[in-house]
Amino acid sequence: RSYDHFFKVLLIGESSVGKSSIILRYTDNSFDENFVSTIGIDFKIKTLEIQGKTIKLQIWDTAGQERFHSVTYSFYRGAHAILLVYDITQARSFSSLATWLRNIEQYLYLFQHAENDTLKYIVGNKCDCTELRVVQKKEGEQIAEKFMAEFFETSAKMNTNIDSLFKNICYKILAK
Ligand code: GTP
Ligand code: MG
Repeated sequence: RSYDHFFKVLLIGESSVGKSSIILRYTDNSFDENFVSTIGIDFKIKTLEIQGKTIKLQIWDTAGQERFHSVTYSFYRGAHAILLVYDITQARSFSSLATWLRNIEQYLYLFQHAENDTLKYIVGNKCDCTELRVVQKKEGEQIAEKFMAEFFETSAKMNTNIDSLFKNICYKILAK
């Protein structure tokens, strides 16, 4: 075995918020302006070193389109962290968070019963789009606090906070 820890991380959220772009930036350090909507589900692997330990991250990319949602739920099982992504320029992607969060709680409860130790992250992506911003950082922080989730604003395009996000996830899982 070439690693010390294996962590499963899952990205969910509405279509076009930038889930695939965040993963592509993190695993391939690249960015594509063109929107290619994800069909079904896929994962990427990234290996990193933290505190002298090798961590293998399995990062699942889900499809935001409504017709795939029923498939997505089954992948919550065994996730160490679930990242709920919204787009700071799209009010709807933010207002739907509560529904996603309730679904997460419901499914995690089904899988894990009372012991629910999956970490939740709320991620406001496209923070490079300052002119188009409609969701304030404060609002993101507030909903994160309400649902006991961590909060990050990121830009897959400008590579803002992407590394720190995944590092934070690893540290938080290790600290459990
Ligand atoms: P689905 O696969 O349909 O669920 O969408 P998704 O959440 O995977 O979105 P995707 O990563 O495909 O990105 C959607 C569009 O937003 C693409 O055109 C990206 O180039 C763009 N985009 C993604 N992240 C950013 C960002 O941080 N800033 C800006 N300006 N655009 C971004
Ligand atoms: Mg996608």
